[in-house]
Amino acid sequence: MVAEGPSTKFVFPRWANYLLLVLVVGGAGGALYVPVLFGFGASPRTLYVGYQPEQPVAYSHALHAGKLGIDCRYCHIGVEKGPHATLPATQTCMNCHSSIKTDSPNLIRLRESWATGKPVEWVRVHDLPDYVYFNHSAHVNRGVGCASCHGRIDQMDVVQQAMPLSMGWCLECHRNPEKNLRPISEITNMAYKPEPKPDETAMAAQLRVGNELKQLYHTRDKTYMTSCSTCHR
Ligand code: HEC
Ligand code: HEC
Ligand code: HEC
Ligand code: HEC
Ligand code: HEC
Repeated sequence: MVAEGPSTKFVFPRWANYLLLVLVVGGAGGALYVPVLFGFGASPRTLYVGYQPEQPVAYSHALHAGKLGIDCRYCHIGVEKGPHATLPATQTCMNCHSSIKTDSPNLIRLRESWATGKPVEWVRVHDLPDYVYFNHSAHVNRGVGCASCHGRIDQMDVVQQAMPLSMGWCLECHRNPEKNLRPISEITNMAYKPEPKPDETAMAAQLRVGNELKQLYHTRDKTYMTSCSTCHR
C-alpha cells in the first residue's frame, strides 16, 4: 500500500474540485454551483495518513484491544449491522471502570461523563466527505477485515489514520478485492495471514485464499464495484 502524505492531499483537491465543478455545472445546473464549490473548497478537512488528533480521555487501543484482547465489536457494535461502526457509550467503559482504576486521574473525564450523562466528546479521526457513501457492514460481512483499512489499531496507543481513504485507494481494492479478502471469522483478527502451503509465497497464499473466498462470498464484479453510483449515490 503506497502511503499518501499530507503534501499529496493539498495537490489532489485542486484538480478534483475542477472535476467537481464540471460535473456540477454539467449535471445539476448553475444554481448549485456556488454553495457546492464553496462547501468542498472551504471545509477544514484534515483527513490524511498519519492524522492523529488528541482525545479527551487517554484511552489506548494497544492496551484494551491489544494486551487485554477485547474484541473490536464489544465497543464498535454497529460495524456488522450497518453503515457506521459507532463509538461506545460511557456505560460500556463503566462495565469495567466502575471497579477498575476508580481513582485514576486519567479517567476523570470518563467519570464526569458518567455522572452528568453527557457523552465523552471523542474527536473524529476518519471522516469521508458527505458525498461519498460508505458502509461498514457491506465490507466486514464480505470478508474485508478492519486491519485492511485501519492498520494495526491493536498496536496504537492513540488512533491514527493508516490509509489515504482517497478515491484511488478505494478503487484499488474494488478492482482486485482478492488481495484483501479473508474468512469472515477473522474480520477482527488484526494479525491474520493465510497459511502458505509448502513452497508458496505469502502473496500467492493470499491470492489463492482470496480467489476462493471471492467465489464463496459471490463478490460483485468489477463493473459494479467501480461504477460511480456505487459510492456516489
Ligand atoms: C473498549 C472499547 C474499544 C475496543 C475494544 C475497541 N475500540 Fe476502537 N475506539 C474506542 C473509542 C472509545 C474510540 C474513540 C477514541 C479514539 O479514537 O481512540 C475508538 C476509536 C476507533 C477508531 C477511530 C474512529 C474515528 O474517529 O475515525 C477506529 C478505526 C477503531 N476504534 C477501530 C477499532 C478496532 C479495529 C478495534 C479492534 C482491534 C477496536 N477499535 C477496539 C473504543 C474501543
Ligand atoms: C473489559 C474491561 C474494560 C473495558 C470495557 C474498558 N477498560 Fe479501560 N482498562 C481496563 C483495564 C484492565 C485497564 C488497566 C488497568 C491497569 O493498568 O491495571 C484499563 C485502563 C484504562 C485506562 C488507563 C488508566 C490508568 O490510569 O492507567 C484508561 C484511560 C481507560 N482504561 C479508559 C477506558 C475507556 C475510555 C473505556 C471505554 C471506551 C474503557 N477503558 C473500557 C479494562 C477495561
Ligand atoms: C473497507 C474499509 C474499512 C473497513 C474494512 C473497516 N473500516 Fe472502519 N472506517 C472506514 C472508513 C472509510 C471510515 C470513515 C467513514 C465515514 O467518514 O463515513 C471508517 C470509520 C470507522 C470508525 C468511526 C465511526 C464510524 O462508523 O464512522 C470506527 C469506530 C471504525 N471505522 C471501526 C472499524 C472496525 C472495528 C472495523 C472492523 C470490524 C472497521 N472499521 C472496518 C473504513 C473501513
Ligand atoms: C480492502 C478492500 C476494500 C477497500 C479498501 C474498500 N472496499 Fe468497498 N468493498 C469491498 C468489498 C469486497 C465489497 C463487497 C462487494 C460485494 O458486496 O460483493 C465492497 C463493497 C462496497 C460498497 C457496497 C456496495 C453495495 O451496493 O452493497 C460500497 C458503497 C463501498 N464498498 C464503498 C467503498 C468506499 C467509499 C471505499 C473507500 C473509502 C471502499 N469501499 C474501500 C472492498 C473494499
Ligand atoms: C469505490 C468508491 C468510489 C467509486 C466507485 C467512485 N468514487 Fe469518486 N470518490 C470516492 C471517494 C472516497 C472520494 C473522496 C476522496 C477524498 O476526499 O480524497 C471521491 C471523490 C470524488 C470527487 C470529488 C473530489 C474532490 O476532492 O472534490 C469526484 C468529482 C468523484 N469522486 C467522481 C467520481 C466519478 C465520476 C466516478 C465514476 C467514474 C467515481 N467518483 C467513482 C469514492 C469513489
